[in-house]
Amino acid sequence: MNDRTTVRILDHRTAEERDREFLPGMGRPWLLPFYDVFSRLAGVRALHDRAAALADVAPGESVLDVGCGTASLSLAVLRAQPDARVTGLDPDPAALRTAARKAARRRVPLTLVQGFADRLPTGDGSLDRIVSSLALHHVPDDGRVAFGREAFRALRPGGTVTIVDFGSSDVADGSAPGHEGGHGGVRGHGRLRGHGGPRGHGRGRSSVATNAHTARNLEGGLVRLLADAGFADAREVDHLEHRFGPITFVQATRP
Ligand SMILES: C[S@@+](CC[C@H](N)C(=O)[O-])C[C@H]1O[C@@H](n2cnc3c(N)ncnc32)[C@H](O)[C@@H]1O
Repeated sequence: MNDRTTVRILDHRTAEERDREFLPGMGRPWLLPFYDVFSRLAGVRALHDRAAALADVAPGESVLDVGCGTASLSLAVLRAQPDARVTGLDPDPAALRTAARKAARRRVPLTLVQGFADRLPTGDGSLDRIVSSLALHHVPDDGRVAFGREAFRALRPGGTVTIVDFGSSDVADGSAPGHEGGHGGVRGHGRLRGHGGPRGHGRGRSSVATNAHTARNLEGGLVRLLADAGFADAREVDHLEHRFGPITFVQATRP
Protein backbone atom coordinates (compact mmCIF):
# COMPACT_ATOMS: atom_id res chain seq x y z
CA MET A 1 0.00 0.00 0.00
CA ASN A 2 1.47 3.38 -0.86
CA ASP A 3 0.71 6.73 0.78
CA ARG A 4 -2.07 7.45 -1.67
CA THR A 5 -4.08 4.52 -0.39
CA THR A 6 -3.14 4.38 3.27
CA VAL A 7 -6.04 3.57 5.55
CA ARG A 8 -5.36 3.57 9.28
CA ILE A 9 -7.26 3.53 12.55
CA LEU A 10 -5.89 5.48 15.52
CA ASP A 11 -7.12 5.54 19.11
CA HIS A 12 -7.54 9.06 20.51
CA ARG A 13 -9.43 8.05 23.68
CA THR A 14 -8.17 8.83 27.15
CA ALA A 15 -8.33 6.07 29.78
CA GLU A 16 -11.55 7.65 31.06
CA GLU A 17 -13.11 7.80 27.60
CA ARG A 18 -12.56 4.06 27.11
CA ASP A 19 -15.44 3.41 29.50
CA ARG A 20 -17.70 6.08 28.07
CA GLU A 21 -20.96 4.93 26.54
CA PHE A 22 -22.24 6.21 23.21
CA LEU A 23 -25.32 5.79 21.04
CA PRO A 24 -24.30 3.69 18.01
CA GLY A 25 -25.49 4.28 14.46
CA MET A 26 -28.67 2.23 14.58
CA GLY A 27 -29.20 2.45 18.32
CA ARG A 28 -27.86 -1.06 18.99
CA PRO A 29 -24.38 -2.42 18.26
CA TRP A 30 -25.64 -5.66 16.68
CA LEU A 31 -27.49 -3.69 13.98
CA LEU A 32 -24.27 -2.17 12.61
CA PRO A 33 -23.88 -4.76 9.77
CA PHE A 34 -27.19 -3.51 8.38
CA TYR A 35 -26.32 0.19 8.64
CA ASP A 36 -25.01 0.77 5.13
CA VAL A 37 -27.78 -1.19 3.43
CA PHE A 38 -30.41 0.65 5.45
CA SER A 39 -28.72 3.95 4.76
CA ARG A 40 -28.61 3.26 1.01
CA LEU A 41 -32.28 2.25 0.90
CA ALA A 42 -33.18 5.39 2.86
CA GLY A 43 -31.50 7.60 0.24
CA VAL A 44 -28.85 8.88 2.62
CA ARG A 45 -26.18 8.95 -0.09
CA ALA A 46 -27.84 12.05 -1.56
CA LEU A 47 -27.46 13.79 1.81
CA HIS A 48 -23.78 12.93 1.91
CA ASP A 49 -23.23 14.14 -1.65
CA ARG A 50 -25.06 17.40 -0.92
CA ALA A 51 -23.05 17.97 2.28
CA ALA A 52 -19.81 17.26 0.41
CA ALA A 53 -20.82 19.74 -2.31
CA LEU A 54 -21.66 22.39 0.29
CA ALA A 55 -18.32 21.83 2.03
CA ASP A 56 -16.64 22.65 -1.29
CA VAL A 57 -13.28 21.18 -0.34
CA ALA A 58 -10.21 22.35 -2.29
CA PRO A 59 -7.25 20.11 -3.23
CA GLY A 60 -4.97 19.42 -0.27
CA GLU A 61 -7.42 20.68 2.35
CA SER A 62 -7.78 18.84 5.65
CA VAL A 63 -11.27 17.64 6.50
CA LEU A 64 -12.58 16.07 9.71
CA ASP A 65 -15.79 14.02 9.52
CA VAL A 66 -17.25 14.02 13.04
CA GLY A 67 -19.33 10.96 13.95
CA CYS A 68 -18.21 9.37 10.70
CA GLY A 69 -19.64 5.91 11.42
CA THR A 70 -18.91 3.75 8.39
CA ALA A 71 -17.39 6.79 6.65
CA SER A 72 -19.94 7.29 3.88
CA LEU A 73 -19.65 11.09 4.17
CA SER A 74 -15.84 10.88 4.27
CA LEU A 75 -15.98 8.86 1.04
CA ALA A 76 -18.42 11.36 -0.52
CA VAL A 77 -15.93 14.13 0.27
CA LEU A 78 -13.18 12.11 -1.39
CA ARG A 79 -15.37 11.47 -4.44
CA ALA A 80 -15.94 15.22 -4.75
CA GLN A 81 -12.31 16.09 -4.02
CA PRO A 82 -9.89 13.14 -4.38
CA ASP A 83 -6.99 15.29 -3.18
CA ALA A 84 -8.54 16.11 0.18
CA ARG A 85 -6.90 14.84 3.37
CA VAL A 86 -9.82 13.27 5.20
CA THR A 87 -10.04 11.99 8.78
CA GLY A 88 -13.11 10.32 10.25
CA LEU A 89 -13.82 10.45 14.00
CA ASP A 90 -16.19 8.08 15.80
CA PRO A 91 -16.30 6.26 19.14
CA ASP A 92 -17.57 3.00 17.57
CA PRO A 93 -14.67 0.62 16.78
CA ALA A 94 -16.86 -1.71 14.71
CA ALA A 95 -18.05 1.19 12.53
CA LEU A 96 -14.45 2.31 12.07
CA ARG A 97 -13.41 -1.18 10.98
CA THR A 98 -16.19 -1.18 8.38
CA ALA A 99 -15.10 2.31 7.31
CA ALA A 100 -11.51 1.11 6.89
CA ARG A 101 -12.62 -1.84 4.74
CA LYS A 102 -14.71 0.47 2.52
CA ALA A 103 -11.84 2.92 2.02
CA ALA A 104 -9.36 0.13 1.30
CA ARG A 105 -11.75 -1.41 -1.25
CA ARG A 106 -12.05 1.94 -3.00
CA ARG A 107 -8.29 2.51 -2.74
CA VAL A 108 -8.68 5.92 -1.16
CA PRO A 109 -6.56 7.28 1.72
CA LEU A 110 -8.48 7.71 4.96
CA THR A 111 -7.42 8.21 8.56
CA LEU A 112 -9.92 6.97 11.12
CA VAL A 113 -9.77 8.00 14.75
CA GLN A 114 -11.61 6.42 17.64
CA GLY A 115 -12.83 9.25 19.86
CA PHE A 116 -15.65 11.64 20.67
CA ALA A 117 -17.06 14.83 19.17
CA ASP A 118 -16.30 16.82 22.32
CA ARG A 119 -12.51 16.42 21.95
CA LEU A 120 -11.35 16.70 18.37
CA PRO A 121 -8.06 14.94 17.54
CA THR A 122 -6.31 17.93 16.04
CA GLY A 123 -4.41 21.11 16.94
CA ASP A 124 -5.73 24.66 17.12
CA GLY A 125 -6.50 26.17 13.70
CA SER A 126 -5.32 23.03 11.91
CA LEU A 127 -8.46 22.11 9.95
CA ASP A 128 -9.85 23.59 6.74
CA ARG A 129 -13.25 21.86 6.96
CA ILE A 130 -15.35 20.01 9.48
CA VAL A 131 -18.24 17.95 8.18
CA SER A 132 -20.77 15.82 10.04
CA SER A 133 -23.82 13.84 8.97
CA LEU A 134 -26.65 12.44 11.09
CA ALA A 135 -24.31 12.30 14.08
CA LEU A 136 -24.88 15.27 16.38
CA HIS A 137 -28.28 13.99 17.46
CA HIS A 138 -26.35 11.02 18.90
CA VAL A 139 -24.20 13.30 21.06
CA PRO A 140 -25.36 14.26 24.58
CA ASP A 141 -26.08 17.92 25.40
CA ASP A 142 -22.76 18.73 27.07
CA GLY A 143 -20.91 16.94 24.25
CA ARG A 144 -22.72 19.05 21.64
CA VAL A 145 -21.74 22.29 23.36
CA ALA A 146 -18.15 21.05 23.63
CA PHE A 147 -18.24 20.06 19.94
CA GLY A 148 -19.14 23.65 18.99
CA ARG A 149 -16.26 24.96 21.08
CA GLU A 150 -13.89 22.37 19.63
CA ALA A 151 -14.93 23.10 16.05
CA PHE A 152 -14.19 26.78 16.64
CA ARG A 153 -10.79 25.93 18.15
CA ALA A 154 -9.75 23.42 15.50
CA LEU A 155 -10.74 25.33 12.34
CA ARG A 156 -8.43 27.88 10.79
CA PRO A 157 -9.89 31.37 10.20
CA GLY A 158 -11.99 31.05 7.04
CA GLY A 159 -12.47 27.32 7.62
CA THR A 160 -16.03 26.00 7.57
CA VAL A 161 -18.20 23.53 9.42
CA THR A 162 -20.98 21.82 7.45
CA ILE A 163 -23.55 19.73 9.30
CA VAL A 164 -26.43 17.67 7.94
CA ASP A 165 -28.80 16.16 10.47
CA PHE A 166 -32.43 15.73 11.36
CA GLY A 167 -33.68 19.18 12.34
CA SER A 168 -35.07 22.45 11.11
CA SER A 169 -34.65 26.17 11.45
CA ASP A 170 -38.36 26.90 11.80
CA VAL A 171 -39.55 28.68 14.89
CA ALA A 172 -43.11 29.54 15.79
CA ASP A 173 -43.10 32.87 13.92
CA GLY A 174 -41.40 31.34 10.91
CA SER A 175 -38.04 33.06 11.32
CA ALA A 176 -34.81 31.38 12.29
CA PRO A 177 -33.08 32.34 15.52
CA GLY A 178 -29.51 33.42 16.02
CA HIS A 179 -28.73 34.77 12.57
CA GLU A 180 -30.10 36.87 9.80
CA GLY A 181 -30.83 36.36 6.17
CA GLY A 182 -29.31 32.92 6.19
CA HIS A 183 -31.93 30.90 4.45
CA GLY A 184 -34.36 33.14 2.65
CA GLY A 185 -32.68 32.47 -0.67
CA VAL A 186 -32.12 28.80 -0.33
CA ARG A 187 -35.10 27.50 1.56
CA GLY A 188 -36.65 24.68 -0.34
CA HIS A 189 -33.94 24.75 -2.96
CA GLY A 190 -34.37 21.12 -2.75
CA ARG A 191 -32.22 19.84 -5.46
CA LEU A 192 -32.80 17.04 -3.01
CA ARG A 193 -36.41 17.82 -2.35
CA GLY A 194 -38.27 14.66 -3.06
CA HIS A 195 -35.22 12.49 -2.77
CA GLY A 196 -35.87 9.78 -0.25
CA GLY A 197 -39.58 10.27 -0.44
CA PRO A 198 -41.19 13.25 1.25
CA ARG A 199 -44.48 12.18 2.71
CA GLY A 200 -46.15 15.41 3.55
CA HIS A 201 -44.49 16.02 6.91
CA GLY A 202 -44.77 19.61 7.99
CA ARG A 203 -41.33 20.93 8.83
CA GLY A 204 -40.60 19.93 12.39
CA ARG A 205 -43.67 17.71 12.65
CA SER A 206 -42.74 14.05 12.64
CA SER A 207 -41.24 11.41 14.86
CA VAL A 208 -38.19 13.68 14.84
CA ALA A 209 -40.14 16.14 16.98
CA THR A 210 -40.97 13.51 19.56
CA ASN A 211 -37.55 11.86 19.63
CA ALA A 212 -35.54 13.30 22.52
CA HIS A 213 -32.28 13.07 20.54
CA THR A 214 -33.39 14.70 17.30
CA ALA A 215 -35.80 17.22 18.88
CA ARG A 216 -32.79 19.23 20.07
CA ASN A 217 -32.03 20.03 16.42
CA LEU A 218 -35.45 21.53 15.73
CA GLU A 219 -36.24 25.25 15.73
CA GLY A 220 -32.71 26.26 14.83
CA GLY A 221 -31.00 24.08 17.44
CA LEU A 222 -27.94 23.41 15.30
CA VAL A 223 -27.63 27.02 14.16
CA ARG A 224 -27.82 28.14 17.79
CA LEU A 225 -25.25 25.56 18.81
CA LEU A 226 -22.72 26.99 16.34
CA ALA A 227 -23.67 30.63 16.97
CA ASP A 228 -23.17 30.12 20.71
CA ALA A 229 -19.72 28.72 19.97
CA GLY A 230 -18.75 31.98 18.22
CA PHE A 231 -19.64 31.24 14.57
CA ALA A 232 -21.37 34.53 13.80
CA ASP A 233 -22.62 33.47 10.35
CA ALA A 234 -24.12 30.11 11.38
CA ARG A 235 -27.13 29.47 9.13
CA GLU A 236 -29.29 26.84 7.49
CA VAL A 237 -28.15 26.59 3.86
CA ASP A 238 -30.57 23.92 2.68
CA HIS A 239 -33.25 21.62 3.95
CA LEU A 240 -35.47 18.85 2.72
CA GLU A 241 -38.29 16.69 3.89
CA HIS A 242 -37.16 13.11 4.20
CA ARG A 243 -39.61 10.35 4.96
CA PHE A 244 -38.00 10.00 8.40
CA GLY A 245 -38.36 13.69 9.17
CA PRO A 246 -37.02 17.13 8.30
CA ILE A 247 -33.35 17.33 7.35
CA THR A 248 -31.35 20.51 7.78
CA PHE A 249 -28.01 21.53 6.30
CA VAL A 250 -26.23 24.03 8.54
CA GLN A 251 -23.01 25.81 7.75
CA ALA A 252 -20.75 28.34 9.45
CA THR A 253 -17.37 29.96 8.89
CA ARG A 254 -14.64 30.36 11.51
CA PRO A 255 -14.07 34.14 11.74
C1 LIG B 1 -26.53 7.65 12.54
S1 LIG B 1 -24.81 7.39 12.63
C2 LIG B 1 -24.18 8.44 11.32
C3 LIG B 1 -22.92 7.90 10.73
C4 LIG B 1 -22.41 8.62 9.49
N1 LIG B 1 -22.01 9.98 9.77
C5 LIG B 1 -23.41 8.59 8.37
O1 LIG B 1 -23.87 9.65 7.92
O2 LIG B 1 -23.72 7.49 7.89
C6 LIG B 1 -24.32 8.31 14.10
C7 LIG B 1 -22.87 8.11 14.49
O3 LIG B 1 -22.56 8.96 15.61
C8 LIG B 1 -21.62 8.27 16.39
N2 LIG B 1 -21.55 8.85 17.73
C9 LIG B 1 -22.29 8.57 18.83
N3 LIG B 1 -21.88 9.32 19.87
C10 LIG B 1 -20.86 10.10 19.43
C11 LIG B 1 -20.02 11.08 20.05
N4 LIG B 1 -20.18 11.42 21.32
N5 LIG B 1 -19.08 11.67 19.30
C12 LIG B 1 -18.93 11.34 17.98
N6 LIG B 1 -19.71 10.43 17.35
C13 LIG B 1 -20.65 9.81 18.06
C14 LIG B 1 -22.12 6.83 16.38
O4 LIG B 1 -21.13 5.91 16.78
C15 LIG B 1 -22.54 6.68 14.91
O5 LIG B 1 -21.50 6.17 14.12
